[in-house]
Amino acid sequence: MGVTGGIAAYKSLSLIRLLRVWGAEVKVVATRHALEFVTELSLRTLSQNKVYTDMFSVSENVEVEHIALADWADLLVVAPATANIIGKYAGGIADDALSTLLLACAKPVFLAPAMNSNMLHHPATQANLQKLQERGVQILGTGTGFLACGTSGDGRMLEPEQIFENIKSHFASKRILSGKRALVTAGPTYEPIDPVRFIGNYSSGLMGFQLAETLADAGAQVTLVTGPTHLQTQHPLIQRVDVKTAAQMLNACLQAAPQADLIVMAAAVADYTPQEVAPEKIKKSEANFNLALKKTTDILAEIGKQKTDSQCVVGFALETEHEMDNAVSKLKNKNADIIVLNSLKNQGAGFQCPTNLVTLIDRTGKITKGELKDKREVAQDIVNYIVDYMKIK
Ligand code: CTP
Repeated sequence: MGVTGGIAAYKSLSLIRLLRVWGAEVKVVATRHALEFVTELSLRTLSQNKVYTDMFSVSENVEVEHIALADWADLLVVAPATANIIGKYAGGIADDALSTLLLACAKPVFLAPAMNSNMLHHPATQANLQKLQERGVQILGTGTGFLACGTSGDGRMLEPEQIFENIKSHFASKRILSGKRALVTAGPTYEPIDPVRFIGNYSSGLMGFQLAETLADAGAQVTLVTGPTHLQTQHPLIQRVDVKTAAQMLNACLQAAPQADLIVMAAAVADYTPQEVAPEKIKKSEANFNLALKKTTDILAEIGKQKTDSQCVVGFALETEHEMDNAVSKLKNKNADIIVLNSLKNQGAGFQCPTNLVTLIDRTGKITKGELKDKREVAQDIVNYIVDYMKIK
């Protein structure tokens, strides 16, 4: 990502964040003027990478650094792109780290112009933009509204969310799961005892949400059936169905499953639910209290029974002992294709944490042990595994 010296540079911070949360790795090349508007520290903290500013002081390998960056990136976005960088890029001038990188870069380049309306409409800028467009550079539009110079007009940089959407749709054309439908379950279930109490568990829903987003990013149309969670998703390919109880989750899944090509059950579904739900709040008494529970339907096993040959069903196994044996029997008993084994014994894995460590076991007997990673990366590994397993090309 290139950042140049315009007031909109502060918005580049949000763009970095959006890209990082999406799972992209970001390296920033900032011009000297950009650093008058945002600090090197903010850019570095958000991107989690060194910020490249000066061609001749970045490292001992100065001559090759811009070439290495150009090779490393899948896409280069300059946001904001001032009239100056646009002019330099159109004219082939390479006099700082960013303009040099632009010339060295054979990857897709996106420019998000940001400038005063008169500068934008100046024939020089318009000619430069046209020239760049003809060379295949993606010129993003600008917004209309209040400008830093105190006037109002067009020339405002697009909002970070809009730039992000453009970047995402660029990668969408290559999406491997386009045309596939996925059903994902996430989160806990709440089994009501009375109007104010329930039986629940510590599941945050994060693993299921990350899987749904990763599948959707890969092009799948996702139905996400989720128990109670504070998590949100804005992905246009995700249709969210909110449920509370195991019985509601079962119903939602039975409706969506026949249309799904792949089904991933990451929810922590209650195995038991109160036999009866008290219509009024249960009052405290001197005696001890026993709650009668009945079994819920095992959703994964139910889906496994109805599974067709072309469907791939993935279950999770959360274990604290005899992990592998239990996971293998879940695979068989529930007729799943793949089981994702979570061992709660591993630090940093399982409930309520941003990281996870999983082992994948499939019907062919293959066992693949993962490493401790961010849940987003674990979701990507699981999706890659499913794609391979289903032999999707
Ligand atoms: N599962 C389900 N419906 C249930 C219980 C579990 O769909 N009523 C699914 C979970 O979403 C998960 C898998 O089954 O994909 C395994 O869940 P887990 O809690 O590890 O195992 P259980 O089958 O509940 O067995 P146990 O609690 O005895 O380990």
